[in-house]
Amino acid sequence: MALLKSSKDSWEAQVDFDHLPRHVAIIMDGNGRWAKRRGLPRTAGHAAGAENFRTIATYCQKIGLEYLTVYAFSTENWKRPLEEVSAIMGLLKKYLLESIEKMERDKVKMHFFGDLTPLPQELREMCERTEEISKRYDGIQLNVCLNYGGRDEIVRAARAFAADCAAGTRKPEALTEADFSAYLYSAGVPDPDLVIRPSGEIRISNFLLWQSAYAELYYTDVLWPDFSKEELHKALVAYQGRSRRYGGV
Ligand code: IPE
Ligand code: IPE
Ligand code: MG
Repeated sequence: MALLKSSKDSWEAQVDFDHLPRHVAIIMDGNGRWAKRRGLPRTAGHAAGAENFRTIATYCQKIGLEYLTVYAFSTENWKRPLEEVSAIMGLLKKYLLESIEKMERDKVKMHFFGDLTPLPQELREMCERTEEISKRYDGIQLNVCLNYGGRDEIVRAARAFAADCAAGTRKPEALTEADFSAYLYSAGVPDPDLVIRPSGEIRISNFLLWQSAYAELYYTDVLWPDFSKEELHKALVAYQGRSRRYGGV
Protein backbone atom coordinates (compact mmCIF):
# COMPACT_ATOMS: atom_id res chain seq x y z
CA MET A 1 0.00 0.00 0.00
CA ALA A 2 2.78 2.40 0.95
CA LEU A 3 4.50 1.55 -2.31
CA LEU A 4 1.31 2.16 -4.28
CA LYS A 5 0.81 5.52 -2.60
CA SER A 6 4.32 6.73 -3.26
CA SER A 7 4.15 5.68 -6.93
CA LYS A 8 0.86 7.62 -7.28
CA ASP A 9 2.37 10.68 -5.66
CA SER A 10 5.31 10.57 -7.99
CA TRP A 11 3.06 11.59 -10.93
CA GLU A 12 1.47 14.41 -9.00
CA ALA A 13 4.89 15.71 -7.96
CA GLN A 14 5.96 15.86 -11.60
CA VAL A 15 3.08 18.07 -12.72
CA ASP A 16 3.87 21.76 -13.11
CA PHE A 17 0.61 23.19 -11.76
CA ASP A 18 1.64 26.73 -12.74
CA HIS A 19 1.66 25.81 -16.42
CA LEU A 20 -1.40 23.67 -16.91
CA PRO A 21 -3.09 23.46 -20.29
CA ARG A 22 -5.95 25.96 -20.45
CA HIS A 23 -8.32 23.50 -22.03
CA VAL A 24 -8.42 19.72 -21.62
CA ALA A 25 -10.85 17.55 -23.57
CA ILE A 26 -11.70 13.94 -22.75
CA ILE A 27 -13.36 11.18 -24.77
CA MET A 28 -14.96 9.30 -21.85
CA ASP A 29 -14.66 5.83 -23.38
CA GLY A 30 -14.54 2.29 -22.01
CA ASN A 31 -17.60 2.18 -19.74
CA GLY A 32 -19.02 -0.91 -21.45
CA ARG A 33 -15.78 -2.90 -21.22
CA TRP A 34 -15.33 -1.86 -17.59
CA ALA A 35 -18.73 -3.37 -16.79
CA LYS A 36 -18.15 -6.48 -18.89
CA ARG A 37 -14.94 -7.27 -17.03
CA ARG A 38 -16.93 -7.25 -13.81
CA GLY A 39 -19.80 -9.34 -15.20
CA LEU A 40 -22.10 -6.31 -14.93
CA PRO A 41 -24.54 -4.83 -17.45
CA ARG A 42 -23.13 -2.04 -19.65
CA THR A 43 -25.41 0.43 -17.89
CA ALA A 44 -23.45 -0.17 -14.65
CA GLY A 45 -20.36 0.95 -16.55
CA HIS A 46 -22.10 4.15 -17.58
CA ALA A 47 -23.10 4.80 -13.97
CA ALA A 48 -19.47 4.31 -12.89
CA GLY A 49 -18.35 6.56 -15.74
CA ALA A 50 -20.74 9.31 -14.67
CA GLU A 51 -19.39 9.09 -11.10
CA ASN A 52 -15.87 9.37 -12.39
CA PHE A 53 -16.80 12.38 -14.46
CA ARG A 54 -17.84 14.16 -11.28
CA THR A 55 -14.59 13.22 -9.54
CA ILE A 56 -12.38 14.35 -12.42
CA ALA A 57 -14.36 17.54 -13.12
CA THR A 58 -14.21 18.51 -9.44
CA TYR A 59 -10.49 17.89 -9.39
CA CYS A 60 -9.93 19.92 -12.58
CA GLN A 61 -11.80 22.78 -10.94
CA LYS A 62 -9.63 22.44 -7.84
CA ILE A 63 -6.35 22.66 -9.74
CA GLY A 64 -7.56 25.72 -11.63
CA LEU A 65 -8.14 24.38 -15.11
CA GLU A 66 -10.12 26.91 -17.17
CA TYR A 67 -11.96 24.61 -19.57
CA LEU A 68 -12.86 20.93 -19.51
CA THR A 69 -14.77 19.46 -22.46
CA VAL A 70 -16.09 15.93 -22.29
CA TYR A 71 -17.63 13.66 -24.90
CA ALA A 72 -20.72 12.17 -23.26
CA PHE A 73 -22.87 11.05 -26.20
CA SER A 74 -22.07 11.20 -29.89
CA THR A 75 -24.34 11.63 -32.92
CA GLU A 76 -23.45 7.98 -33.68
CA ASN A 77 -24.31 6.62 -30.22
CA TRP A 78 -28.03 6.48 -31.13
CA LYS A 79 -27.13 3.22 -32.92
CA ARG A 80 -26.97 1.51 -29.52
CA PRO A 81 -29.85 -0.53 -28.05
CA LEU A 82 -32.71 1.66 -26.83
CA GLU A 83 -32.27 0.34 -23.30
CA GLU A 84 -28.66 1.53 -23.17
CA VAL A 85 -29.48 4.93 -24.69
CA SER A 86 -32.32 5.40 -22.16
CA ALA A 87 -30.01 4.48 -19.29
CA ILE A 88 -27.43 7.05 -20.44
CA MET A 89 -30.13 9.74 -20.71
CA GLY A 90 -31.35 8.81 -17.22
CA LEU A 91 -27.83 9.14 -15.82
CA LEU A 92 -27.42 12.53 -17.48
CA LYS A 93 -30.65 13.69 -15.88
CA LYS A 94 -29.47 12.52 -12.47
CA TYR A 95 -26.11 14.21 -12.99
CA LEU A 96 -27.72 17.52 -13.95
CA LEU A 97 -30.13 17.47 -11.01
CA GLU A 98 -27.19 17.02 -8.64
CA SER A 99 -25.19 19.68 -10.48
CA ILE A 100 -27.94 22.27 -10.23
CA GLU A 101 -28.00 21.72 -6.45
CA LYS A 102 -24.23 22.14 -6.12
CA MET A 103 -23.78 24.89 -8.65
CA GLU A 104 -24.05 27.83 -6.30
CA ARG A 105 -21.26 26.33 -4.20
CA ASP A 106 -19.02 25.11 -7.04
CA LYS A 107 -19.44 28.09 -9.40
CA VAL A 108 -19.13 25.78 -12.38
CA LYS A 109 -20.14 27.22 -15.74
CA MET A 110 -21.84 24.55 -17.85
CA HIS A 111 -22.29 24.46 -21.58
CA PHE A 112 -23.63 21.81 -23.91
CA PHE A 113 -22.14 21.23 -27.33
CA GLY A 114 -24.45 19.36 -29.67
CA ASP A 115 -27.96 19.38 -31.03
CA LEU A 116 -30.21 18.98 -28.01
CA THR A 117 -33.49 18.86 -29.98
CA PRO A 118 -33.72 15.02 -30.25
CA LEU A 119 -33.19 14.58 -26.48
CA PRO A 120 -36.11 13.77 -24.17
CA GLN A 121 -37.86 17.10 -23.50
CA GLU A 122 -37.26 17.03 -19.74
CA LEU A 123 -33.53 16.48 -20.22
CA ARG A 124 -33.30 19.18 -22.84
CA GLU A 125 -35.02 21.69 -20.59
CA MET A 126 -32.71 20.72 -17.76
CA CYS A 127 -29.66 21.32 -19.97
CA GLU A 128 -31.00 24.73 -20.96
CA ARG A 129 -31.77 25.61 -17.35
CA THR A 130 -28.32 24.51 -16.16
CA GLU A 131 -26.67 26.61 -18.85
CA GLU A 132 -28.83 29.61 -17.97
CA ILE A 133 -28.24 29.39 -14.19
CA SER A 134 -24.52 28.86 -14.53
CA LYS A 135 -23.98 31.84 -16.87
CA ARG A 136 -23.20 34.04 -13.89
CA TYR A 137 -20.53 31.74 -12.45
CA ASP A 138 -16.86 32.17 -13.13
CA GLY A 139 -15.38 28.79 -12.11
CA ILE A 140 -14.21 26.13 -14.53
CA GLN A 141 -16.18 25.98 -17.78
CA LEU A 142 -17.47 22.47 -18.29
CA ASN A 143 -18.54 21.70 -21.85
CA VAL A 144 -20.58 18.53 -22.13
CA CYS A 145 -20.79 17.17 -25.67
CA LEU A 146 -24.23 15.67 -25.99
CA ASN A 147 -25.57 14.37 -29.30
CA TYR A 148 -22.37 15.90 -30.59
CA GLY A 149 -20.48 15.09 -33.77
CA GLY A 150 -17.58 17.09 -35.18
CA ARG A 151 -18.83 16.78 -38.75
CA ASP A 152 -22.38 17.66 -37.77
CA GLU A 153 -21.06 20.74 -35.97
CA ILE A 154 -19.13 21.88 -39.06
CA VAL A 155 -22.08 21.30 -41.39
CA ARG A 156 -24.37 23.31 -39.09
CA ALA A 157 -21.84 26.12 -38.98
CA ALA A 158 -21.59 26.08 -42.79
CA ARG A 159 -25.37 26.26 -43.06
CA ALA A 160 -25.59 29.17 -40.62
CA PHE A 161 -22.83 31.01 -42.48
CA ALA A 162 -24.52 30.39 -45.83
CA ALA A 163 -27.80 31.71 -44.41
CA ASP A 164 -26.03 34.90 -43.25
CA CYS A 165 -24.54 35.30 -46.74
CA ALA A 166 -27.96 34.86 -48.30
CA ALA A 167 -29.33 37.48 -45.89
CA GLY A 168 -26.55 39.82 -46.95
CA THR A 169 -24.89 40.14 -43.52
CA ARG A 170 -21.78 38.17 -44.53
CA LYS A 171 -19.56 37.89 -47.58
CA PRO A 172 -18.16 34.46 -48.58
CA GLU A 173 -14.81 35.89 -49.68
CA ALA A 174 -14.33 37.67 -46.34
CA LEU A 175 -14.68 34.52 -44.18
CA THR A 176 -11.68 33.84 -41.92
CA GLU A 177 -10.93 30.82 -39.71
CA ALA A 178 -11.74 32.92 -36.65
CA ASP A 179 -15.09 33.98 -38.14
CA PHE A 180 -15.95 30.38 -38.91
CA SER A 181 -15.04 29.25 -35.37
CA ALA A 182 -17.67 31.64 -34.06
CA TYR A 183 -20.37 29.56 -35.81
CA LEU A 184 -19.36 26.39 -33.94
CA TYR A 185 -20.81 25.17 -30.62
CA SER A 186 -17.46 26.08 -29.11
CA ALA A 187 -17.70 29.78 -30.06
CA GLY A 188 -15.55 31.81 -27.70
CA VAL A 189 -13.79 28.79 -26.19
CA PRO A 190 -10.06 28.42 -26.90
CA ASP A 191 -9.07 25.26 -28.78
CA PRO A 192 -8.26 22.24 -26.61
CA ASP A 193 -4.57 21.95 -25.74
CA LEU A 194 -4.81 18.32 -24.71
CA VAL A 195 -7.23 15.62 -25.88
CA ILE A 196 -7.29 12.49 -23.73
CA ARG A 197 -8.76 9.18 -24.83
CA PRO A 198 -8.87 6.34 -22.33
CA SER A 199 -9.88 2.74 -23.17
CA GLY A 200 -7.10 1.84 -25.59
CA GLU A 201 -8.77 3.10 -28.76
CA ILE A 202 -6.51 5.26 -30.87
CA ARG A 203 -9.02 7.25 -32.86
CA ILE A 204 -10.85 10.56 -32.65
CA SER A 205 -14.41 9.21 -33.22
CA ASN A 206 -15.80 12.50 -34.57
CA PHE A 207 -14.74 14.57 -31.55
CA LEU A 208 -13.80 18.27 -31.89
CA LEU A 209 -12.55 17.81 -35.45
CA TRP A 210 -12.09 21.51 -36.14
CA GLN A 211 -10.91 22.51 -32.67
CA SER A 212 -8.22 19.85 -32.19
CA ALA A 213 -6.19 20.87 -35.24
CA TYR A 214 -3.15 21.40 -32.99
CA ALA A 215 -4.20 19.60 -29.82
CA GLU A 216 -1.75 17.23 -28.16
CA LEU A 217 -3.27 13.74 -28.15
CA TYR A 218 -2.90 11.34 -25.23
CA TYR A 219 -4.10 7.75 -25.25
CA THR A 220 -4.16 5.21 -22.43
CA ASP A 221 -5.45 1.65 -22.01
CA VAL A 222 -7.11 2.56 -18.71
CA LEU A 223 -10.91 2.46 -19.02
CA TRP A 224 -12.79 5.69 -18.28
CA PRO A 225 -14.36 4.61 -14.93
CA ASP A 226 -10.80 3.80 -13.73
CA PHE A 227 -9.27 7.03 -15.05
CA SER A 228 -8.22 8.48 -11.69
CA LYS A 229 -6.59 11.77 -10.66
CA GLU A 230 -3.28 9.93 -10.93
CA GLU A 231 -4.04 9.03 -14.54
CA LEU A 232 -4.82 12.68 -15.16
CA HIS A 233 -1.49 13.64 -13.59
CA LYS A 234 0.23 11.17 -15.90
CA ALA A 235 -1.48 12.75 -18.92
CA LEU A 236 -0.53 16.25 -17.75
CA VAL A 237 3.11 15.18 -17.31
CA ALA A 238 3.10 13.72 -20.85
CA TYR A 239 1.57 16.96 -22.16
CA GLN A 240 4.13 19.11 -20.40
CA GLY A 241 6.90 17.06 -21.95
CA ARG A 242 5.70 17.75 -25.50
CA SER A 243 7.12 20.38 -27.81
CA ARG A 244 4.29 22.28 -29.51
CA ARG A 245 5.49 23.75 -32.77
CA TYR A 246 2.32 24.57 -34.71
CA GLY A 247 4.15 23.93 -37.91
CA GLY A 248 7.13 26.08 -36.96
CA VAL A 249 10.53 24.99 -35.73
C1 IPE B 1 -18.31 5.42 -23.52
O1 IPE B 1 -18.21 4.10 -23.15
C2 IPE B 1 -19.69 6.00 -23.21
C3 IPE B 1 -20.48 6.32 -24.40
C4 IPE B 1 -20.10 6.18 -25.63
C5 IPE B 1 -21.80 6.84 -24.17
P1 IPE B 1 -18.64 2.93 -24.12
O2 IPE B 1 -20.05 2.57 -23.84
O3 IPE B 1 -18.34 3.25 -25.53
O4 IPE B 1 -17.69 1.76 -23.62
P2 IPE B 1 -17.00 0.65 -24.51
O5 IPE B 1 -16.19 1.35 -25.54
O6 IPE B 1 -18.10 -0.16 -25.10
O7 IPE B 1 -16.16 -0.11 -23.55
C1 IPE C 1 -16.85 7.93 -28.45
O1 IPE C 1 -16.85 6.63 -28.01
C2 IPE C 1 -18.07 8.64 -27.95
C3 IPE C 1 -18.11 8.88 -26.50
C4 IPE C 1 -17.23 8.52 -25.63
C5 IPE C 1 -19.27 9.60 -26.03
P1 IPE C 1 -17.47 5.43 -28.88
O2 IPE C 1 -17.34 4.21 -28.06
O3 IPE C 1 -18.80 5.80 -29.36
O4 IPE C 1 -16.48 5.40 -30.12
P2 IPE C 1 -16.10 4.21 -31.12
O5 IPE C 1 -17.39 3.61 -31.58
O6 IPE C 1 -15.29 3.24 -30.35
O7 IPE C 1 -15.31 4.87 -32.20
MG1 MG D 1 -16.69 2.98 -26.69
